[in-house]
Amino acid sequence: MERKWWKEGVVYQIYPRSFYDSNGDGIGDLKGIIAKIPYLKELGIDIIWLNPIYASPNDDNGYDISDYRSILKEFGSMQDFEKLLNALHQAGIKLIMDLVVNHSSDEHPWFIESKSSKTSPYRDYYIWRKPNEEGKEPNNWRSVFSGSAWQLDEQTGEYYLHLFSKKQPDLNWENEKVRKEVYDMMTWWFEKGIDGFRMDVINFISKVDGLPSASEDKVGADGYAWGGEYFVTGPRVHQYLQEMNKEVLSKYDIMTVGETGDVSPEDGMMFTGSDRDELNMIFQFEHVNLGQGKEGKWTPEPYRLTELKTIMDKWQKKLHGKGWNSLYFTNHDQPRQVSKFGNDTIHRKESAKMLATYLHTLEGTPYIYQGEEIGMTNVQFESLDQYKDLEILNKWEEIKHTGTLTEEELLKGVHINGRDNARTPMQWDESPNAGFTTGEPWIGVNPNYKMINVDESIKDTDSVFHYYKKLLQLRKEHLIMPYGKYQLVLEDHEQIYAYTKTLEDEKWIVILNFGDTEVLFEMPLDIQMKNAKLILANYVTDERDNLDKIMLKPYEARIYAL
Ligand code: NOJ
Repeated sequence: MERKWWKEGVVYQIYPRSFYDSNGDGIGDLKGIIAKIPYLKELGIDIIWLNPIYASPNDDNGYDISDYRSILKEFGSMQDFEKLLNALHQAGIKLIMDLVVNHSSDEHPWFIESKSSKTSPYRDYYIWRKPNEEGKEPNNWRSVFSGSAWQLDEQTGEYYLHLFSKKQPDLNWENEKVRKEVYDMMTWWFEKGIDGFRMDVINFISKVDGLPSASEDKVGADGYAWGGEYFVTGPRVHQYLQEMNKEVLSKYDIMTVGETGDVSPEDGMMFTGSDRDELNMIFQFEHVNLGQGKEGKWTPEPYRLTELKTIMDKWQKKLHGKGWNSLYFTNHDQPRQVSKFGNDTIHRKESAKMLATYLHTLEGTPYIYQGEEIGMTNVQFESLDQYKDLEILNKWEEIKHTGTLTEEELLKGVHINGRDNARTPMQWDESPNAGFTTGEPWIGVNPNYKMINVDESIKDTDSVFHYYKKLLQLRKEHLIMPYGKYQLVLEDHEQIYAYTKTLEDEKWIVILNFGDTEVLFEMPLDIQMKNAKLILANYVTDERDNLDKIMLKPYEARIYAL
């Protein structure tokens, strides 16, 4: 076991736009984050990941960058950034930034130049193609945000590729100059003192030569197809990451986490293996994609606990001792975990604590998404026009033409899986707008803020917040939490998720009830509870309990040292 700060630390993700607004313009900002450092310190986190804060026209809330070396005006200035970094370091907290280099904004000077003429020295910074024989898009790929992945530029008569919105043209990683620009920019930020990068869709950067169309049978009602087989973990992605590692990453004591959709644990080993010189860890999506129906995330379906177990089991096992896992359920692209994997009504607190117990006892680095530590829930806006996320709004446009979903069906899907669930403002207190802003918030506040907010969570000693604090403290005291080997117990149980953790001669058992009813847990015979010591639980337990047969309450969580 190789000890590293980024393995033992806990990451807290901040979506700056929705965290805390210091100047009343309705948009969270850097000064707002500085103001909340004492709160984060109190919680006990070690590392902050900031979603993009760079100059951007904000087509996709900052994931469309027009200048990688300056700060979005709404968020503050470079001076504010430096103050923030300094204040975090003073508080013993590290800072990792978002690196968005699969694409830039179409308003980035590189793209403006690239678009200006076919002979521009920047033309080859992006992926331009002639129309096909019928004068249409060069291939049939669909963009992640609906419609074709190609946009015609009238002036030069060619199309450019954009796997995301048309304001997010894909950079051409085949071009050595592009790679050099990216490495220089990364070095510039490291020299400023940042502690790492979260790398946006980093496994999409290498596309298969010739950009072939996806097969006809994949074409949907919109006339396009998901071309993932030609760019997800593409042919040269490992080569590029090794080059990046050699040129930049290896020179600093930093952490890296790659966002990698559609990957297997085998891919996970390729990206994070300690002998690979690529990344420290990745975000895989298999578990958060559970329960997708015929229209994907928009038509959710029930899934079984054993499906979750199977996925996590293979990631835990495959990466054990050789790679490293990121542990998360929620981020700015996912619904709130207590709504999706727990119960956000009568068992909100218990299930929020149970899910936290789970993520923080697996092998890997846990991520807390802002508000998760107080058990914030999904929001249910009444109509689609209250949403701000372009993924939702583009889908709405799409279904008007394809008719694959009614508006009502889409709204239902959005309530469960829409990205804005995680993007409503952080709930600080019960004052208007949850204390997030004195102005008009850029997106509606979840109406449940009077009941769920930081203020209340700090006052209530039995709150989700205080439970997270305890968990984080425990993780600092017990290396078995990050490093211990995970072994599933009762593999086939559809309501109880239990596993042992082992590190040298230390052994723990974690017992979790993932359901909203009581359930009997019968200890397997080979696990000796005679000298078991309770480490943490989310209900009051009785010392006289017979630990060989435990009646678990809804969403109960217990950790015992054996
Ligand atoms: C993944 C990011 O997390 C998401 O928010 C963004 O829309 C896409 N990548 C495109 O950058």
